[in-house]
Amino acid sequence: MDALLALDQGTSSSRALVFGRDGGLLALAQRELPQHFPQPGWVEHDAQQIWTHQVECAREAVTKAGVKVAAIGITNQRETVVLWDRKTGQPLHKALVWQDRRTAAFCEQLKAQGLEPRVRELTGLVLDPYFSATKLRWLLDNVPGARERAARGELAFGTIDSWLLWKLTDGKVHATDASNASRTLIYDIHRGDWSDELLAAFDIPKSLLPEVRPSSGVFGQATEFGVPIAGIAGDQQAALFGQAALTPGQAKNTYGTGCFLLMHTGTQARTSTQGLITTRAAQVDATAQYALEGSVFVGGAVVQWLRDGLKAIGGSGEVQALASSVPDAGGVMFVPAFAGLGAPYWRPDARGALLGLTRGTTQAHIARAALESIAFQSAAVLTAMNADVDAADRLTELRVDGGASANDLLMQFQADLLGIPVLRPKVIETTALGAALLAGLGVGLYESTEQIGAIWQLDRAFEPRMSRDEAGARLAAWDRAVRQVLAA
Ligand code: G3P
Repeated sequence: MDALLALDQGTSSSRALVFGRDGGLLALAQRELPQHFPQPGWVEHDAQQIWTHQVECAREAVTKAGVKVAAIGITNQRETVVLWDRKTGQPLHKALVWQDRRTAAFCEQLKAQGLEPRVRELTGLVLDPYFSATKLRWLLDNVPGARERAARGELAFGTIDSWLLWKLTDGKVHATDASNASRTLIYDIHRGDWSDELLAAFDIPKSLLPEVRPSSGVFGQATEFGVPIAGIAGDQQAALFGQAALTPGQAKNTYGTGCFLLMHTGTQARTSTQGLITTRAAQVDATAQYALEGSVFVGGAVVQWLRDGLKAIGGSGEVQALASSVPDAGGVMFVPAFAGLGAPYWRPDARGALLGLTRGTTQAHIARAALESIAFQSAAVLTAMNADVDAADRLTELRVDGGASANDLLMQFQADLLGIPVLRPKVIETTALGAALLAGLGVGLYESTEQIGAIWQLDRAFEPRMSRDEAGARLAAWDRAVRQVLAA
């Protein structure tokens, strides 16, 4: 009974992973999640399907592992909004995904009214459609009868963690953790509570909201599995935890659908002057923990687009071979602003661009430029982060994880651009591992976070090889490309 089950509900897929007490992966099951794009810039998921896929994966992974698990940890794509009926458990609408830009005009309106500085002060975030509140407001205003039913207390709102927790407990528990709450735009990260002032500003009734708890500890009993759900954290904060980045100054970058670079700042909420956001990190007890975050909206999703949009590859695994078939991107720059640009630019209206095309450009150059765009965007965030902290706190190494961190070409290019070693751990399923560890702590399988630090093991360190002059020239070329996109 010393294995742990992690439910990792990401943007592109739902996964369930079983880990041993030593952090070793025992079994994995996954289903790709269909994406719905009803209009340009809109992105939806079927919340019911998320639940079905997730529970099927959980059953499959537990069967494959052939062990009895002690507890379940949930980690999830953050900000995505589900609104459901408390009685029937039915969602009222498809989930509005974090990448969805439909509330861009509303955000502009709120900015024009001067709301942003206060939002920033209370939540650590910017007024961008990325975060949950304006999406929830959209549902209340656009789903017939939703507002009236919300006023009668019939509805519940949750990010994906809350939704899964509710379903796993047969509707008995409506809760979330501080790391997920801190992405909603209505949670005061300093007081650690929902903000009445922001609820009024966004016109959201309090009766919809889940209870906010620490990320580790028993949330409730998963009826079907007969074990407690004892850990919850947003996927990026779970990855920070799984990377054992638990003390101020430690950082990680996760290469998933997007890329998210987080630096732990301990019990101090640091305010960025460089376009980063302040967020709650996973917390194992009542003490609040914070991180600085740079969110890149399109990371691995660019590879998905090469497969599904451009049809340049048959499967994501083929991208490294195609990109490596040419020595460089042949002058092509790919700015994959499919969902606007996040940190450090915050331009929901930006759209993607391919620049520098010639008659000699091939799919291989585009694939290479696509991979490079992942590293360029992460480098821009790291530059912003280094500018935000004291010289002594600048990053001297970067821990990496997530699916695309398996790509050696990408990791080498990342180290080359950054000029610091990029460290890839043995377990790159760090998001899921983080959730499992939080759950393990929650049921007393581990006594302290020190034990968790000992689980982290290096697989490979990518040392920078490119000259700083060349890296500088490449980064300058990227900046020029982004400026063209922002001016378009
Ligand atoms: O904030 C969005 C983030 O949580 C999505 O993560 O892993 O689906 O790219 P991922």
